[in-house]
Amino acid sequence: MANDRPLVIAHRGASGYLPEHTLEAKAMAHAMGADYIEQDVVLTKDGIPVVLHDIHLDTVTDVRERFPNRHRADGRFYALDFTLAEIRTLNATERVSHKTGKAVYPRRFPAGTSRFEVPTLAEEIELIQGMNRSTGRVAGIYPEIKQPGWHREQGHDISKIVLDVLHKYGYRTKDDAVFLQCFEQDELRRIREDLGAEMRLVQLVSGNSAVARAATATPPDMATLDSELRRFAEFADGVGPALSAIVPGVTPEGGPQITPLVERAHAHDLVVHPWTFRSDAMPKFCDDMDTLLGWYIDEAKIDGLFTDFPDQPVRFLQSRDRQ
Ligand code: G3P
Ligand code: CA
Repeated sequence: MANDRPLVIAHRGASGYLPEHTLEAKAMAHAMGADYIEQDVVLTKDGIPVVLHDIHLDTVTDVRERFPNRHRADGRFYALDFTLAEIRTLNATERVSHKTGKAVYPRRFPAGTSRFEVPTLAEEIELIQGMNRSTGRVAGIYPEIKQPGWHREQGHDISKIVLDVLHKYGYRTKDDAVFLQCFEQDELRRIREDLGAEMRLVQLVSGNSAVARAATATPPDMATLDSELRRFAEFADGVGPALSAIVPGVTPEGGPQITPLVERAHAHDLVVHPWTFRSDAMPKFCDDMDTLLGWYIDEAKIDGLFTDFPDQPVRFLQSRDRQ
């Protein structure tokens, strides 16, 4: 099931260059030639899906200064406690640590400068579809439903709300330029089987999943890995592991160690889209992005990749096409 050419997925937009999930970062990703542009999605108090990586607002906006008393007992400021009108008054900014207040990626766009906003999912889709039309080049969308179980505990069915928006904008089938992703396995199955989603679905994995453990000190045996992949294939079209589940290190000769994950996923007709290629946070065993891309694309045979710097794999793939 391997592609000839892997998909370049702009992770939170061109977030290596502009604050994550702002419309500016998405426009830059489109202009750089990303095939797909990612949206992490959470809900506001009035049930509007907005594009935000966390259920919290405090690491990527100035909510703490604007609404100092609106935190919960844990000290965090939840998008679900603010109306869209209130969120529209916030400045979005480069990501900072909620513990230290310092930029997570210090060499990126300066935190707290310029003026950015938190977009709704609908606004972002309109931006991407508008650029698809004005440039003549179609970029797809790659929404992730964030913490659906937590949203349900708070009284909201985020999956249904997001699906309604996707359907409204014409994203319905496996032929449409969309992948819908989620970490919660029961929820992704529900999206397929109960909510009737026909589009391509990607099962994100972390923690105790056999796929996620493919490269740990206690990797699953092949039967366990296959069993999990077979189960995912009942409702999903692909898997999204961390980079380290595919190439956890190098051999004594200096080449990549490659786990069986991609080969076994392809055997179950699942594509593999790992995350996240970041040139300012490289794995400790490789300091050259083109070398790293070559290992994953040419040797491990991934089908797509998430990156904060979409221009880098686009350039890598274009230069390879010219050879
Ligand atoms: O959705 C792929 C990747 O983004 C998963 O990790 O935490 O960045 O959403 P996260
Ligand atoms: Ca994500």
